[in-house]
Parts: sequence; structure tokens; C-alpha cells
Amino acid sequence: MADIPAQWDAALSGTLYEEMGGADALARLVDEFYSRVHGHPLLAPIFPQDLTETRRKQFAFLSQFFGGPPLFSEHYGPPRLRYRHLPFPITPARARAWLSVMDAAMDAAGIDPAVKPKLMERLTRTAAHMVNTDEDGAPVP
Ligand code: HEM
Repeated sequence: MADIPAQWDAALSGTLYEEMGGADALARLVDEFYSRVHGHPLLAPIFPQDLTETRRKQFAFLSQFFGGPPLFSEHYGPPRLRYRHLPFPITPARARAWLSVMDAAMDAAGIDPAVKPKLMERLTRTAAHMVNTDEDGAPVP
């Protein structure tokens, strides 16, 4: 999963992906994130028991999201992230839960505190975009 061809080296220079420590750091982050998901009462009910494939897809997505190799598009097609989340009721509280778990995962994965806020800022904007249900269960267009 963390095997990135050498020709990517130059192209990645200056990206958040490189700043955070590349594939190794990302793999640590994704592992720490999914090891916590079932422990959160708002997230546990919507995630599958077996997170193997979810983990693989998230690694591929975040790789390209942070400016690294476009693994998600390569393996799974266009991200269409909001559309892919529509089967799950994502409320503002769930978005905050997702971000709090990600915040803890960053610390556990040893992400550089100088880079963490930049990563979190991008994830916070995307998480807000995933909200599709309000706290009363009504759809958010
Ligand atoms: C806002 C709170 C969020 C919640 C509650 C949430 C929840 C979920 C759930 C339940 C799945 C399906 C897991 C599965 O069946 O395998 C999923 C898939 C995924 N999520 Fe999220 N997610 C959130 C935000 C995000 C954000 C911010 C990103 C990326 C920056 C993201 C990236 C992905 C990806 C790449 C997948 C796999 C899509 C696929 O199945 O092809 N999610 N998410």
C-alpha cells in the first residue's frame, strides 16, 4: 500500500502529502483513524464491522487529497465524495465526531504539529461538505 514509484519524488515536492511525511505517515494516520472509529458512539453505527476496504479506500483518497499520487481515481474512479456518502446520515454532530477522531489520530500517528493544522483545515472544509442530514433527520440538500 505504501509503495510509491520513485518518479513521483519530484512531482510531490511542496505538497501537504510530502510535508506530512508521505505514504508512511499517511498509512499511520489512516490506521490510527480506523482503529478509533468503532469507539465513537456516533460513528460506530454507520461504519462496517470490517474496515479493511474502507481503510484501503481512505488511504487512496487522502493520498490524492493531500497532493500525493492519485491512487483513488486510479483504482476506484471519480471520487464524487458527497455522493458516496449519501447512503449514510451525516449530521453536523457526526461531522464533528469524524473530525475529533481524526484529530486524535493525527496525534497518535505522530504527525508534525506544524503540519497538522493545515491538514485539519482541509479536512474540516470537506467534512462540512459531507453533511447531508440535519439533527432532526431532515435531508440537507
Ligand atoms: C463528515 C463526517 C464523515 C462521516 C460520518 C463519514 C462516514 C463514512 C462512511 C460511513 C463511509 C462508508 C464506509 C464503508 O462502507 O466502507 C465512508 C466512506 C468514505 N469516506 Fe467518509 N465520512 C466523513 C467524512 C469524510 C471526509 C472528510 C473524507 C475525506 C476527506 C472522507 C472520505 C471517505 C472515503 C474516501 C470513503 C470511501 C468511499 C467509497 O466507498 O468509495 N469521509 N465515510
